[in-house]
Amino acid sequence: MRSLLLLLYWLLQEHRSNNATRELQYWTWWKSSQREREINLFILAREPEGFSIWNGPPFNNGQPNIKLERVPCTVSKFSENGSRLMVIKSTSEISVYDCHSLTEIKSFEIPSVLAATISPLGTYLQTFQKSSSPQDKNIVLWDIQTGSPVYQLFQKNMSKTTWPSLQFNSDESVVCRMATNEIQFFDPSDFSKGAVYRLRIPGVAAIELSRAPGSHVAAFVPESKGIPASVQIFSCNKDSQSLPSDVDKTNKSYYGESKLNYLTTDGSYEGLVDLRKDGPVHDVQWSSSGLEFAVVYGFMPAKATIFDKFRQTYTT
Ligand SMILES: *[C@@H]1O[C@H](CO)[C@@H](O)[C@H](O)[C@H]1NC(C)=O
Ligand SMILES: *[C@@H]1O[C@H](CO)[C@@H](O)[C@H](O)[C@H]1NC(C)=O
Ligand SMILES: *[C@@H]1O[C@H](CO)[C@@H](O)[C@H](O)[C@H]1NC(C)=O
Repeated sequence: MRSLLLLLYWLLQEHRSNNATRELQYWTWWKSSQREREINLFILAREPEGFSIWNGPPFNNGQPNIKLERVPCTVSKFSENGSRLMVIKSTSEISVYDCHSLTEIKSFEIPSVLAATISPLGTYLQTFQKSSSPQDKNIVLWDIQTGSPVYQLFQKNMSKTTWPSLQFNSDESVVCRMATNEIQFFDPSDFSKGAVYRLRIPGVAAIELSRAPGSHVAAFVPESKGIPASVQIFSCNKDSQSLPSDVDKTNKSYYGESKLNYLTTDGSYEGLVDLRKDGPVHDVQWSSSGLEFAVVYGFMPAKATIFDKFRQTYTT
């Protein structure tokens, strides 16, 4: 019997009166074949000490059944397509679970791990460890199936803008990383080749690869020696890779505040997003449909606003 499995999950945050945050993540398996259509909803309950997995409603006597007893962890994160769950169990142990069978499929022993992330399809685990010398390659990309490292490199430090070091698009067909004055592209079928393409961008300080499709990469170069900061968007198509498809040349003052610029890859629009409060921009996230984005901004108490991609405000 061939069945098609689809998975969805979404997040709900439930704030408990005792101020401890419990997070519930729901996901659903649709098993559909010609004869049957069966929906299994699971709930991942995240508590300060770990996570457990419950079955979804309807509940017997109002109580969910425990599908997986609490696993102690500090971090739990789904792969983007929901097939696998990465769990940081301690400062030296990371496990990967299969979300369909709810079983642990691989466990990694990685001393002093400071950060870890799972690739969009759940193929790779990427870890960051403290390193004392450039010989000590502290960023490792692991093949989850085999448990072996496929690529290793040295990176002195890690911040929100430089982690994860290797960025994947949603179908893992494009992989790149920011290096000094360049963006390096890799062959996802063979990491041993190293960087197969380099795009030179002097002074680049942050990059972001588009997810689905992985057709463009945005690069930020901060203001330096009187030259204003810029954001450039490059096409990942090899033939046009060296040409920025758009450059933000707006000469607005960035002193003392942060602004949010919105640029389209086809160059049809560029400009500031109209935020209604002074202060820093704390976070920006696209919705999964890519039709709207949410911005949290301003001095405390911060404001949260959802914009549609044509920049009409929905909700504040
Ligand atoms: C996620 O990607 C993996 C690897 O391609 C695939 O085997 C799996 O079926 C995908 N899962 C979903 C829910 O799309
Ligand atoms: C590492 O940290 C130093 C000092 O905090 C900083 O100057 C440097 O830019 C950082 N490098 C990277 C790659 O983040
Ligand atoms: C922006 O500023 C730079 C340096 O001050 C100047 O050379 C450039 O002409 C300005 N561009 C615009 C569009 O005003």
